[in-house]
Amino acid sequence: MNLQAAGDVAPGIGRAERRRAAPWMRATVAVEHVSLTTVEHAIGVTRGDDEGAGDVPSPVRRRLDCRRRAERMDAAIAVKGPAAGSVLTKHDGTSDVESAPVGCGRGIQIQSAEGMNPAVAIERHAAGRARCGVGRRGHLELNQAGKEEGGHQRRVCLPGMRHGPVADCIGWGVSKPPSLHSQRMSSVAVIGAGYVGLTTAVCLADLGHRVTGVDIDKTKVIRLRAGEPTIYEPGLEALMAAMLKSGRLAFTSDYDDAIPDADFVFIAVGTPPGRRGEADTVFVKQAAKRIAGAMKKTMTIVNKSTVPIGTGNIVARIVGESLRDEIPFHVVSNPEFLREGSAIYDFMHPDRLVFGSHDEPAARAVAGLYSKLDTKILITDLHTAEMIKYASNAFLATRISFINEMARICERVDADVKVVSEGMGMDRRIGPLFLEAGIGYGGSCFPKDVKALARMAETMGYHPELLDAVMEINLDQRTLVVEKLREVLGGLRDQVVGVLGLAYKPNTDDIREAPAIDVIENLLQKGAVVRAYDPKAMPVLKAQMNTIQYCNDPYALATGADALLVVTEWDEFRQLDLDRL
Ligand SMILES: NC(=O)c1ccc[n+]([C@@H]2O[C@H](COP(=O)([O-])OP(=O)(O)OC[C@H]3O[C@@H](n4cnc5c(N)ncnc54)[C@H](O)[C@@H]3O)[C@@H](O)[C@H]2O)c1
Repeated sequence: MNLQAAGDVAPGIGRAERRRAAPWMRATVAVEHVSLTTVEHAIGVTRGDDEGAGDVPSPVRRRLDCRRRAERMDAAIAVKGPAAGSVLTKHDGTSDVESAPVGCGRGIQIQSAEGMNPAVAIERHAAGRARCGVGRRGHLELNQAGKEEGGHQRRVCLPGMRHGPVADCIGWGVSKPPSLHSQRMSSVAVIGAGYVGLTTAVCLADLGHRVTGVDIDKTKVIRLRAGEPTIYEPGLEALMAAMLKSGRLAFTSDYDDAIPDADFVFIAVGTPPGRRGEADTVFVKQAAKRIAGAMKKTMTIVNKSTVPIGTGNIVARIVGESLRDEIPFHVVSNPEFLREGSAIYDFMHPDRLVFGSHDEPAARAVAGLYSKLDTKILITDLHTAEMIKYASNAFLATRISFINEMARICERVDADVKVVSEGMGMDRRIGPLFLEAGIGYGGSCFPKDVKALARMAETMGYHPELLDAVMEINLDQRTLVVEKLREVLGGLRDQVVGVLGLAYKPNTDDIREAPAIDVIENLLQKGAVVRAYDPKAMPVLKAQMNTIQYCNDPYALATGADALLVVTEWDEFRQLDLDRL
């Protein structure tokens, strides 16, 4: 744990301010790590100040007291200062200092520069709770309730935050979420039985809950009831069959069959791009209204759809306004990070789970539904949870556009982008994933989410320069491949081009925003004759495009073709017999 020195934290403030700001810069802003070693280190540093560092006026006794108490604890705290780039202001001549990383948007008030002690007074509470004050207005809590299960929760509450109890937390995690609900079966309804909803319903049933999937598409419901998955996902069919047989999974198109008994209702309906690229939340709003219409008892509404920031509040308003009786309810954001093609695996082995709410116990209760999964959990406020999803997708999309731009430069300087990417990926700060140059990203998430985030930013008066560049580079990749083909063939008119792969990525039949579609349309426009083959997605494209020829296998596709374009990296294509082609 690196406790930042006061001087290198806040560019733009003078020496005197730094000296005065020093104590709170060591104050707790974010919990980084929980271990006994860390707290000793953190508090040791604080004590070191007392022994001669000089510029931090600190009450030694209380700190040592704090240290002694900390030693008795099984969990401990580590602290670090505000990030570089923080904006520091002082209030009206008092010694209070306000700090927020640029963009934090919250005006976190941190304790007084005068004699306030950042990490003092750790107290044990009766129910195994330890509390550590970080100044006049904030506190840090270590809740050891989950200890028997091998985990600790911790959260940092900072003063000056806007919302209720959970919004007071800038983050707290549990290695296993302790919850009233954690070990018992809950009754869950999942609204929307698409990629996310169906996976969620089947997997929550597998985790032991009683789940009813609700979809307005009656044909879909009939197929699902018969055990026929309406999407292709590895492992889905078998797991769904087992869950239907167990009696823990059912499907309906009637909200009244699913909502009245449910403790938790997940919303997992689509949020497609609107006319100007913004996320269209009409299905979410419809779902909220219909949930309210069928609600009979208190419940928690969990939003899994990717939604513009603040949609959780809108859902709460719609439900509140549409309820016939006064029934208490909570809204929690639980964004989904699964990848199509490995949805079941991803649901069961998430890198992290995120829950955001204005009501902390509600967020914890939702976390409890996943208590059988061994993963990191982040509980935060509603807006932050909604934003984490957009920021994650935008970052991954940025990596893809970045490496594609590198590929274009590599071509010009005679370097091998594959090796460049490998060399970059060896750096732990960079990592190897999402660094493969290719035809760019597609699918139902990245394109629409990056666009929606950019539009949201513009609506809020910020021009999203980087996101715009990411999108532009991505679209150009699709044109570039056709231009290359034109160069190789010396023109495209009447040339027979075979397209290998239609799905936007391997192991799915999803063709939403698939690069193949743009490539095919471009080829057709330039007069080429197009044939296509995909192991799973042909029926889906056939239903909307009849201007191309579909082939039953790659070899039939290659027969008489002037060129083949690999658009989707299905494993099957890696094993093709090139001589036979
Ligand atoms: N597909 C992914 O890989 C993925 C990953 C993470 C997050 N997400 C997000 O999850 C959400 C759902 O995505 P998806 O790919 O599962 O969508 P989808 O289009 O596959 O499924 C949505 C389902 O909701 C149903 N529906 C629509 N309105 C309804 C209503 N009022 N009541 C009941 N059912 C209704 C539709 O009939 C459809 O079956 C989106 O916000 C998406 O951005 C998707």
